[in-house]
Amino acid sequence: MAADNDKASPGAPSRPAERGKTVHGELANAGHRVLAPDDAEVEAYLETALKAPAPQRSPDDRPGGSRSGAATDEPDSVVVLDFGSQFAQLIARRVRELNVYSELLPHDTPWPEIERRRPKAIILSGGPMSVYDEGAPRPDPGIWSGDIPVLGICYGAQLMARELGGDVLPANRREYGPALVSITDSDGLFSGLDHQQPVWMSHGDSITRLPDGFRATAKSESNEFAGLVDEDRRLYGIQFHPEVVHTPRGRDILRNFVIGLAGAKPEWTAANFIETTVAEIRARVDARTRETGGDGNVICALSGGVDSAVAATLVHRAVGDRLTCIYVDHGLMRKKESELLRETFERNLGMRLVMVDARERFLRRLAGVDDPEQKRKIIGDEFIRVFEEEAEKISANGGIDFLTQGTLYPDVIESATSETKAAQKIKTHHNVGGLPADLRFRLIEPLRYLFKDEVRAVGAELGLPEAMVLRQPFPGPGLAIRIIGEVTAERLETLREADWIVIDEIKAAGLYRTLWQSFAILTPVRSVGVMGDGRTYANVVAIRAVTSEDGMTADWAKLPYEVLGRISSRIVNEVPGVNRVVYDISSKPPATIEWE
Ligand code: XMP
Repeated sequence: MAADNDKASPGAPSRPAERGKTVHGELANAGHRVLAPDDAEVEAYLETALKAPAPQRSPDDRPGGSRSGAATDEPDSVVVLDFGSQFAQLIARRVRELNVYSELLPHDTPWPEIERRRPKAIILSGGPMSVYDEGAPRPDPGIWSGDIPVLGICYGAQLMARELGGDVLPANRREYGPALVSITDSDGLFSGLDHQQPVWMSHGDSITRLPDGFRATAKSESNEFAGLVDEDRRLYGIQFHPEVVHTPRGRDILRNFVIGLAGAKPEWTAANFIETTVAEIRARVDARTRETGGDGNVICALSGGVDSAVAATLVHRAVGDRLTCIYVDHGLMRKKESELLRETFERNLGMRLVMVDARERFLRRLAGVDDPEQKRKIIGDEFIRVFEEEAEKISANGGIDFLTQGTLYPDVIESATSETKAAQKIKTHHNVGGLPADLRFRLIEPLRYLFKDEVRAVGAELGLPEAMVLRQPFPGPGLAIRIIGEVTAERLETLREADWIVIDEIKAAGLYRTLWQSFAILTPVRSVGVMGDGRTYANVVAIRAVTSEDGMTADWAKLPYEVLGRISSRIVNEVPGVNRVVYDISSKPPATIEWE
């Protein structure tokens, strides 16, 4: 029996959810579709073109860690050892919400490597196995030394008990879901909390005997040791999950551990990150300039999404005019997006921006194509061609040393072979030629330590416009996959206008941020209508609005009728060629979010 049924998430359908899979067990994004949309597509094209190697991780690969001898720049940190729980990333994010940097490492990371990272604390995640199973994941025993405080969560707590001489057995009664624990002895972890605490449990095994030196700190109805501690060695365990929202005081427990007991300084803030990162980028580019005698030129592809915008702004702060941004305007963006980009980067930030008007080129290649896969391939291929041409022009004008990419932390920690890696998806079916040999750049990845919500916080701190920082995800192929059938200039115009109205009304109703995505689709269906005295025969536009955590599963949004009504009447009245609006009430799965 599994010790810790971490695979099922709170509130999810009863079948265990697997990363990258639907609740039916199929790949959540059939084939080409990437899990982290937004800038992912552009990143993937570039990675493919550059044949860039998967990011390497070393103990020095951490914020402030790359400047030799500058350990003082490193923020205090917490290492989360990942034993396979789907909540492992969530633990790291929760710690970061306390303004303490946290990194996720494989469960078997050798102790000397952990020590070299100088963490203030270690957290052991839950996991799907039983600690007594053959092949159950174990940490390097060095972590029990008492040198660094350790908090074991669920499987992590059971490991702590078993590895140090206690007993863990299958429980008579599995505890799964909400439970009540009584705090029996305060050890600092529960400081400031009431005696009775609602928590989220998810385990089939229980600790039945504590190791020497430990005492119990909490119990539940079916679990005598829901909390344990060895204060001398600073080892703490809890059987429940403080990282999920269903444990209301979980955040306080984590704060008590990370800041109270382990003494980490809460200095991981957007402002500090910007300062350190800008200094690091500048140092790296300057060092390269000294080495090669070149100019230290950097290029960056802007996609209109938040990641590339934030990455470019950080690099611009560091190297100013040595950065040139390239924006390929493929004509498949939404209304006013390209203008916002120009206004933000060129006018407000004074960046060198090359805006390539490639609208005609894309339209020509998309003419007569109605297969969605074909559209994606063409767009990816054309994007990289245009980018290459521009990069070559810049290169001829003084050389390029670095390429900036908006790679995020989840891409770094997911292995290069991961199914979710956008680059690989595209590589398999979309074989672009690769940039010429003399166009090999080094990569600057200023966001490689950040989760998406942190990127947004940094963007806001950098003063980027809200419309960019809080933008809903938008697929790389843009409106082309929201026009069912052939993409033409006229149909793009129709969709752009309809889409604008959807976003406008959703924002006016204060719903924009509650939705994962909201947009219009131009269907190939035409229907009869009446307008004034005349009969019309015009397009049907569909509206899609979904709520979702990560795009892998989604529910159709229960938009108020008044909002739907306003959207519908405005589209029919304001957008020529549309006489009917329908609302898509399918969830994912079985439907996808996009229609193509
Ligand atoms: P689906 O339609 O598969 O979409 O439910 C899941 C998420 O992925 C986005 N998406 C894409 N993003 N290139 C992208 O960059 C694509 O080809 C693509 N197709 C879908 C979609 O917008 C949603 O957020």
